[in-house]
Amino acid sequence: MKKDLLTILDLEKEEIMALFRQANHLRKLMREEETHRPLRGKTLALIFEKPSTRTRLSFEVGMYQLGGYPLVISSNQMQLSRGETLEDTARIFSRYVDGLMIRTFQHSRLEKIARTASIPIINGLTDSFHPCQALSDYYTLWRRKKNLSGLKLAYLGDGNNVSHSLMLGAARLGVEIRICTPPEYEPAEKIQETVREMGASFSLIRDPAEAATGVDVIYTDVWTSMGKEQELPLRAQIFRPYQVNSSLLSRARENVLVMHCLPAHRGQEITDEVMDGPNSIVFEQAENRLHLQKALLVKLLSHQE
Ligand code: CP
Ligand code: NVA
Repeated sequence: MKKDLLTILDLEKEEIMALFRQANHLRKLMREEETHRPLRGKTLALIFEKPSTRTRLSFEVGMYQLGGYPLVISSNQMQLSRGETLEDTARIFSRYVDGLMIRTFQHSRLEKIARTASIPIINGLTDSFHPCQALSDYYTLWRRKKNLSGLKLAYLGDGNNVSHSLMLGAARLGVEIRICTPPEYEPAEKIQETVREMGASFSLIRDPAEAATGVDVIYTDVWTSMGKEQELPLRAQIFRPYQVNSSLLSRARENVLVMHCLPAHRGQEITDEVMDGPNSIVFEQAENRLHLQKALLVKLLSHQE
């Protein structure tokens, strides 16, 4: 078992399936209001270098529910913002807390911390990956569909961190994934190569209608990710044909599930009609961040499956 979760590739397929089962167990205990404190006495630090609603809520509440203590720290209140190195920061955290989740910019920042720290490091989103999101998304689909193998998922929009993690997850779990982006906004070449080498059923499809045809799941994310705000006006133009709306949904299977990691920019990448419509499972997805990440915390912080 790897110490950290930096990308989905840190987990084997069987480990992911075990997380899904554990998440179901923890979800059931929560629904039944059963007290379950496997992380009593453990602490998790959460460092945010970008804003967050769901990631912060799910880790903070999850840690509390498991009997542990979460400390949320904004990086601009740390000596990191005054030049203390990432490595020294990692050494200090390793001596005080049992785990560290970090949301940051370049993925290499996270890797640097993970290399130096002796405690588990969890990726709470970088510019390149969002593994906790994709894991809880596939958990959501597994709960709905029971079998992920051969499921057809079309991702429309920006070839960003979320798309990368969905691709790696698809490759691990046998989901057929179609990525539909404008030409300049494809997922990183390296990730495309990786999933091809892993034998994934992966295709890049330029036409949104073609990408959506016959799929079981349509997934989208914001067109402008955190840190790219200055590109917003240009992106709003370029991505318009990739909007998830009723006309696009009509190409998919009748019971297609619509997913979005949130926050959504309603009226841009997804219409109100679709987001609030009967096919949308976006809020279920958001809740499942809690259950899946609790399972992950139990695995990484207490060395239990
Ligand atoms: N989906 C997600 O990570 O949401 P936040 O940015 O609100 O944490
Ligand atoms: N791609 C988005 C995901 C937000 C959860 C971003 O990085 O801003």
